[in-house]
Amino acid sequence: MTGPILLLDSGVGGLTVLAAVRALLPDAAVVYCADWAGFPYGARREADVSARVAGLLGRLVERVAPSLAVIACNTASTIALDWVRPVLPVPVVGTVPAIKPAAERSRTRAIGVLGTEATIRQPYVDDLVRRYAADCVVVRHAAPELVQAAEAKLRGQPVDARAVEAALGGILDAPRGAAVDTIVLACTHFPLLRDELAAAAPPGILFLDGATGIARRVVQLLDGTLPPPGPGRFLATAAPSDLAALAPALHRLGLDGIEILGEGGRRW
Ligand code: DGL
Repeated sequence: MTGPILLLDSGVGGLTVLAAVRALLPDAAVVYCADWAGFPYGARREADVSARVAGLLGRLVERVAPSLAVIACNTASTIALDWVRPVLPVPVVGTVPAIKPAAERSRTRAIGVLGTEATIRQPYVDDLVRRYAADCVVVRHAAPELVQAAEAKLRGQPVDARAVEAALGGILDAPRGAAVDTIVLACTHFPLLRDELAAAAPPGILFLDGATGIARRVVQLLDGTLPPPGPGRFLATAAPSDLAALAPALHRLGLDGIEILGEGGRRW
């Protein structure tokens, strides 16, 4: 296993997973792909997300020959992980809602799950709740507006405080939501808004995501064979007009050079 680590998300959310990978493997070569041509995944139907992620990951694996691939997106992972694993020639690490650690930490036995519309309705999430949080009240809420707010924040734009409050209200004002002491950030975009969420939430609420666990799993799968040090590449399936505003955030994660896939920026 000598190729780079490949990460895929619908946009910039997966950078929160990359940051955790960078903390453990600061010099490893990485290729990050933002599927902006398919963004947002959370509003798509399951069949659409599966077909898109399987096709795109297949092409990316062929193109960059990675050591392993990380689906740095809860929506894509909870829908498509079981489909893509058997057909890709490299190990695939998924990002799934951190319900297990949340159930381990909650003292009130009431946890919230903030995700996209698609993620919170997945049987995969039902299964996580059944297996790890059967004795907890689990309040799920879809907050697609936070996905947009996170994309904007990384471009240096102000965060919409109403979006943050509405997302928290969706959990804490729901029936039995007042008891929630632990909120799972079940979308990789949301940790980008952790400070805003924590500032707007009642004191003592714990926000959890799965990024550190994913980074540890990546290290474990590499099994001591570190990808050679190399530059970070940022690929995108479409070019948004405000791409330049993202450059400082990408640079901080060692991603320099942005490539738009397809000829002349044509959508894949
Ligand atoms: N970052 C993605 C996730 O973790 C979702 C964003 C989207 O809706 O595209 O679920």
